[in-house]
Amino acid sequence: MGAILEMQRIGKSFPGVRALDDVSLTVAEGDIHAICGENGAGKSTLMKVLSGVYPHGSYDGRIVFDGRDARFRSIRDSEDLGIIIHQELALIPQLTIAENIFLGNERARRGVIDWPDTFRQTRALLDKVGLLKPPGARVDTLGVGQQQLVEIAKALSRNVRLLILDEPTAALSESDSQALLDLLLELKSQGVTSIIISHKLNEVRRVADRVTVIRDGSTISTLDAAGLTEDRIVRDMVGRDMAHRYPERERRAGEVVFELRDWNVGHPEQRDRRAIRDLSMQVRAGEVVGIAGLMGAGRTELAMSVFGRSWGRDISGTVRMHGKVVDVSTVDRAIAAGLAYVTEDRKTLGLILDETIRRNTILANLPAVSAHGIVDERRETEVAERYRRSLRIRTPSVFQKVVNLSGGNQQKVVLAKWLFTEPELLILDEPTRGIDVGAKYEIYTIINELSRAGKAVILISSEMPELLGLCDRIHVMNEGRFVGELSADEASQEAIMSLIVRE
Ligand SMILES: Nc1ncnc2c1ncn2[C@@H]1O[C@H](COP(=O)(O)OP(=O)(O)OP(=O)(O)O)[C@@H](O)[C@H]1O
Ligand SMILES: [Mg+2]
Repeated sequence: MGAILEMQRIGKSFPGVRALDDVSLTVAEGDIHAICGENGAGKSTLMKVLSGVYPHGSYDGRIVFDGRDARFRSIRDSEDLGIIIHQELALIPQLTIAENIFLGNERARRGVIDWPDTFRQTRALLDKVGLLKPPGARVDTLGVGQQQLVEIAKALSRNVRLLILDEPTAALSESDSQALLDLLLELKSQGVTSIIISHKLNEVRRVADRVTVIRDGSTISTLDAAGLTEDRIVRDMVGRDMAHRYPERERRAGEVVFELRDWNVGHPEQRDRRAIRDLSMQVRAGEVVGIAGLMGAGRTELAMSVFGRSWGRDISGTVRMHGKVVDVSTVDRAIAAGLAYVTEDRKTLGLILDETIRRNTILANLPAVSAHGIVDERRETEVAERYRRSLRIRTPSVFQKVVNLSGGNQQKVVLAKWLFTEPELLILDEPTRGIDVGAKYEIYTIINELSRAGKAVILISSEMPELLGLCDRIHVMNEGRFVGELSADEASQEAIMSLIVRE
């Protein structure tokens, strides 16, 4: 089939940054076209150019859609032609599914919203995306995966010709991701063209017909998915062969650093529900201990309840560091006790988006760069520069606001911030979500360095290969309890899953 979209020699600059230099992209009608590239390569920027977020005139090059020159002045213009950019979790939680889907696009008769018609159409759309919920259900009663499906239903309500998905499965569990990818294939069979951006190369291989790789704002290659290997994509992404995805690690466990005993946490809203039940665990110096589980198993809740009681109520149990009971009842006390928690949710808990990289880096350890309560800006810059180099945060300067960084580079700033507290116990919660393969390797290397230096690390991850590749031991969690423990030798995806389903 012919091309539905041609983007020719696209360039786009921001102050001090050439985000896109020379990108060309041709998408055949009816295809699922993947875009891959490292963090900061320019993928999201390209999609914003395509959808009119950055209007015609603010970029170089030419866009041809459906054989015609496209010069969008706003998102509205691109939507009118059926180009729909799917935004992750942009729904209004207090409204119903139907209200969300038709928000700004209401079914009305003589100025009055036609609810029966709205509900009927919503029902049909939900059938299409395979979501078994009533149109009148409030969005805040749905899980993340289900919300994602509502987002897609919303896209479909607008007569979509080209659906753009920018890391749609980043926040989804394995099974929700599968469902979403199946839906994409189903839409394809109905003639919908889509562009998907993802760092999960196995997903790319599963659904894509063609793959375009972007590096440093330029197109490197467009590859046919048939017979394509992940290694080949990685090579074009990073510009060299990557023989290993996980760095070598010598396993050596020392003294017990962290110990949790009889930890119980009540659910903050559901009064009689205990969210975490009778948990005990230890982490030794030099150990990386994983926590595996399905979404909703309570892993993040556990981490947050330990880290300054940021989640839960009626918390009981003890935390010991180096054998001594410590007070972790507030975040400040937890930090003082040597704990650090790198959160999965960088937008709400990790960073001040409107502040510079420099300020965010030192935020959790102000005393280290202050004298008499005043931040020494020279030292602040030095520290931020050091982490920029070691974590390879891609930015022209540490004076950039975090909001201007690409998603993966924001995640690296979160990590820098917590590394700078020089914790004894580092709890990492989905630390590589949205991070490209090359940068993942760098983060794994840092984890190894920490453990070599005798620190204790807890790794929460939904990516099983990551747990298997890094951990000395893995606790398997289900419904707020540990249901089993596996050593590195015993652990496998099958072993973990069978512990979960045995429950
Ligand atoms: N509004 C902006 N102001 C300044 N720089 C920006 C802005 N938006 C993006 N950039 C820069 O442009 C480059 C490309 O960013 P983009 O978000 O497109 O990357 P990406 O490929 O989507 O990365 P990721 O995989 O991390 O999401 C980055 O260096 C980023 O810091
Ligand atoms: Mg992006």
